[in-house]
Amino acid sequence: MIVIPGPSSLGLGWRIAERLGVEPTPVEHRVFPDGESYIKLTKPVEGEKVVIVQTTAPNPDTRLMQLLLMAKTAKDFGAKDVIAVVPYLAYARQDKRFTELEALSLDVIFGMLDCAGVTDLVTVNIHNEASTRGVEEKHNLRFHNISAVPLLAEYLKKEGFDGAYSLSPDKGAIYIAEAASKVLGGGYNYFEKTRDRKTGEITMAVKDLNIQGRKAVVFDDMISSGGTMAKAVEALTQQGAERVASACTHVLYMPGAEEKIRKAGADPIIATNTIETPFSRVTVAGIIADKLRQLE
Ligand code: R5P
Repeated sequence: MIVIPGPSSLGLGWRIAERLGVEPTPVEHRVFPDGESYIKLTKPVEGEKVVIVQTTAPNPDTRLMQLLLMAKTAKDFGAKDVIAVVPYLAYARQDKRFTELEALSLDVIFGMLDCAGVTDLVTVNIHNEASTRGVEEKHNLRFHNISAVPLLAEYLKKEGFDGAYSLSPDKGAIYIAEAASKVLGGGYNYFEKTRDRKTGEITMAVKDLNIQGRKAVVFDDMISSGGTMAKAVEALTQQGAERVASACTHVLYMPGAEEKIRKAGADPIIATNTIETPFSRVTVAGIIADKLRQLE
């Protein structure tokens, strides 16, 4: 097996290779002044199972292009399998046409990966797993989504959140709160979030959670502007929670997001290293390596 840590996932790619007991294979890359990417593999790949680790943030379009260039080059030079490990898959939120004539972005991404010769796609907590049903029939690739939520909950358990109440900011993410609650043991619930499609404004219907004096954690798949997380944390703080943590798999780290969430009362704010940020307290290297061993 050849493991290539892509330009956006050098640290994680090396850690995955280490766990698999293989020497990582670097890729030569550069971005030209006009923004185009250059890619060159550094080792023959003929007949090999090639794993490319490349997350797609920040700069999703460049990171996707680099991924496609690496995958297609591996395919062109005879790789047996091309496994794309994309811990954070950009465009996954546009998994349906919310209004007429919109691009179905996630489907376009799957199609491009298929065309580039990707045989297996591994993601971590893709935005909505249900929306990927049928992808294997429509596109010629095998799809594997793994969850980092138990790891986040284990981390918080050791940080004094054992028995905390788990919440998701919307009904769609209730499965995340449920999975976390299996580790923390304090029960789970969800808020009802609606987002205005034009203005982006978030409204959160808050129910009485009887949270007075309790610890709570808001779990979500991702934080972008921080608006969703801040609203949920604020609701718990206002209802008298003793301590509220914010946990998610991917932090896009948009300007102002941290400030918003801290101001709402969250401490700590934690995430995984699917995207390396100052909040990356939990590594997904182990669960990805385990998945790759299953694909051997
Ligand atoms: C949406 O459904 C997602 O699960 C997140 O809640 C959302 O993308 C977070 O975005 P923001 O941080 O901009 O509110």
